Amino acid sequence: MTTLTDIKIIEIPRVHDQRGILAVLEKDNLPFKLQRVYYLYDVPSDAYRGGHAHKSLYQLLIPLSGSFDVHLKDGKNTQVINCNKPHKGLLIVPGIWREIDNFSSGSVCLVLASETYDEGDYIRVYDEFLKFKSV
Ligand code: TYD
Repeated sequence: MTTLTDIKIIEIPRVHDQRGILAVLEKDNLPFKLQRVYYLYDVPSDAYRGGHAHKSLYQLLIPLSGSFDVHLKDGKNTQVINCNKPHKGLLIVPGIWREIDNFSSGSVCLVLASETYDEGDYIRVYDEFLKFKSV
């Protein structure tokens, strides 16, 4: 079963010159096969997102602009990661509860995901998550 030690920060390779920075992710830089991309924007600063875990989904969260806090739980330990660099992605593996808050004004969170959308992959009740982790 996964734990918080499986959470990784993935450094996204950059090409930097006087015209700015180009960050690029190719399939070999991703620890999963990309199946879906979505993004959060126009998020009110007091909004709370997430509040669930996934049974088998891998996700890479990239703060394209601004910042937000990701609260992670594996059923035993808790960790908070402030995502604030567009060249650093947060890899969330399956079986990790996440809550996201403290969005800065104008922040954009890009999410790369290993599967297409499937509500059946979500665990949205924390007690059910704890049961899932104890199996
Ligand atoms: P959810 O994953 O709960 O959002 P967050 O974790 O950011 O708070 O999804 C919010 C709503 O959007 C929910 O009704 C499901 C829907 N949704 C899709 O239709 N497709 C998707 O790819 C995602 C991620 C969500």
